Order: sequence, then structure tokens, then C-alpha cells
Amino acid sequence: SAFFKPIHNSDPPLPSNRRTKVSVVGVGNVGMAIAQTILTQDLADEIALVDAKPDKLRGEMLDLQHAAAFLPRTKITASVDYEVTAGSDLCIVTAGARQNPGESRLNLLQRNVALFRHIIPPLAKASPDSILIIVSNPVDVLTYVAWKLSGFPVNRVLGSGTNLDSSRFRFLIADHLDVNAQDVQAYIVGEHGDSSVALWSSISVGGIPVLSFLEKQQIAYEKQTLEDIHQAVVGSAYEVIGLKGYTSWAIGYSVANLARTILRDQRKIHPVTVLARGFYGVDGGDVFLSLPALLGRNGVVAVTNVHMTDEESEKLQNRRVLASASGCSGGD
Ligand code: NAI
Ligand code: LAC
Repeated sequence: SAFFKPIHNSDPPLPSNRRTKVSVVGVGNVGMAIAQTILTQDLADEIALVDAKPDKLRGEMLDLQHAAAFLPRTKITASVDYEVTAGSDLCIVTAGARQNPGESRLNLLQRNVALFRHIIPPLAKASPDSILIIVSNPVDVLTYVAWKLSGFPVNRVLGSGTNLDSSRFRFLIADHLDVNAQDVQAYIVGEHGDSSVALWSSISVGGIPVLSFLEKQQIAYEKQTLEDIHQAVVGSAYEVIGLKGYTSWAIGYSVANLARTILRDQRKIHPVTVLARGFYGVDGGDVFLSLPALLGRNGVVAVTNVHMTDEESEKLQNRRVLASASGCSGGD
């Protein structure tokens, strides 16, 4: 343009793969919370938005572009055509039906599986080397469906799983103890939502294992408090959906946190939906469950062998039965 006098540069152009591109499919409450958090945290050089509603799509794109003066320079594109996602490093799928107040996530299964059959193949074709993060519900089963439909290796398909449940768990424990949630380690695993499993043995505050501390101090009632807190986590989405109609901010930060870990190769452990075959006694069948997994630039690097008590392992087994019973995440 006439505004600038270019400085001669004999360097070869930066290889395009030095740029980081993230695609978000579904620009509803969740997709936009994720997109704007990724934008604010400067995690991508380009964000591509896809949806089935062209006007909403263009409106969200323009509205984000208009914030450019306050944000790190990021190219924001949008189209109903999946070509706009071509060459993505990370594809985040939030498209689909959401729960009405009181409705279970499992009730969304058939509608969202049908949508995935139209969404995942073109997305995978346009970015064959990308990592998929599935968010749409029921997320554990839909992660299996996305793995099957994409044909991607299992390390490059994960679901947001119980990363959000664990964040809620950590908040409620921290609130109970009046400490910073970042000093509370606590994993919820298994199925995202109604039948999640709290890993009591994983709870630590400032590095101090809570359960053994309570047992030593013979503070039995606190175990009941922790169980009440887990039940509050299970009910939290229904409560928020009943109040504001949907959930968005916590899932937005939760998925942006996963994106940071992956894109910046942080090698952090997150409870996310992965292929559980061969872990924690889950044998046979392609069952996807949320387990503590080590994440890096290639997606799922490893699944951790977090110690589980017999009770926790048995509960996870039951989740496996449930996940299989849902019809799509079983051994088919
Ligand atoms: P929403 O209704 O606000 O947005 C859904 C978007 O998907 C809409 O913009 C719609 O146009 C789009 N869409 C529908 N069919 C499409 C298609 N074939 N191709 C492209 N886009 C399509 O819903 P919201 O609140 O954003 O929730 C989205 C999903 O995320 C739901 O399934 C919800 O249950 C799930 N969710 C999952 C969470 C988790 O922890 N895994 C947490 C919160 C929501
Ligand atoms: C949640 C639901 C919507 O946990 O999956 O927020």
C-alpha cells in the first residue's frame, strides 16, 4: 500500500507452518466464548469460524474484527464452506444442539451424531494434519464418532471431557477452603456430566493429599463434604442452564486452556476424553472416556497411570458400561 516504503528483505518468506491456525465450528455461545478467549490469549495467528447460519457467522466475524485495536493482530475469517478451515493446526467442534433446561446431554446424541456426519469429513479433509477437540455433547461419545469419521490417529482426536467438571470441582473445593483454585489439584474422570467419577485420591491442596490428611485427623465429615461438592459439580450445568439458558464462560476458558497446552507444547496433564482401551481395566472395544492425559503439540502424548482406589476403578468400569450402552462409543 502507499502508506509504507517496504524495506528490502532477501530472507525467504517464513514457512507458512510457522503460523498457527485454529478453526472453530459452531459460533454459538460456546464456540464464541472459546474463539474470543483464544483471541484474547493470543494463541493463534488466524482463527477461522464455520457455522450453518451465514448471517450469524458474518456478524460474529465482523464483531470480533472490530476489536482489532485492542487485541493481538489475528486474521479472522468465516464461511459456511469448510475450505476456510484449510491447513488448521487445531479444529474445535462446538456445533450442535444444546440441552434445554432439565434435558440430559445424552438426549442430544442422535441429533448431534447426524450433524457430525456432515461436519467431520470436510473438516478433516481440509486439515488432514490437525488436532480435533470435540466439545459438542454428549462429548465423550461424539469424540468417538469424530475419531471414526475423521480417520485421524487416536492421538489427534480428543474431547473436552471432564476438564470442565474438574475445574468446577477445584473451584468448589477452593471456595470451601478459602484458598486459590490453582493450589487445588483434583481430577474428575469418566463421563462428562451426570455420571462422572471423582478421583478422591487425586485431591491435594498445596501438594498435601487431602484424603490421607482427613483420615489421619479422623475428620470423617469432610469426606461427606467432598461428596456433596462432587454432587454439586454434577448438578452445576443444569443449574446454570436453568438460570441463563446455557453454559459458556467456563467451557470457553477450559477449552482455550487445552488449546494453549497443545499449541504451545506445554506437556500438561488434563482430564480429557481419549480412547480408554487398555487403561484402568478398560479392555476391548473402542470406548472413549475422560482420563488424565499428557497433552502436547501432537495432541495426546500419553495417558497417566494415576493411582485409583478399587472403588474408583469400579466406578470407572461402570462408566465404561454406560458409555458402551450409549451405542456409539462401544466396541463397534
Ligand atoms: P448454540 O445453539 O448456542 O450453538 C450451536 C451452534 O451450532 C449454532 O450457531 C448452530 O448454527 C451451529 N450448528 C448447528 N448445526 C450445524 C452444522 N451442521 N454445521 C455447523 N454449525 C452448526 O449452542 P451452545 O450453547 O454453543 O452449545 C453447543 C454445544 O456444546 C452443545 O452440544 C452443548 O451441549 C455443548 N457444550 C459442551 C460442553 C462440554 O463441557 N463439553 C459445555 C457447554 C456446552
Ligand atoms: C456443561 C454442559 C453444557 O457441563 O455440558 O456445561
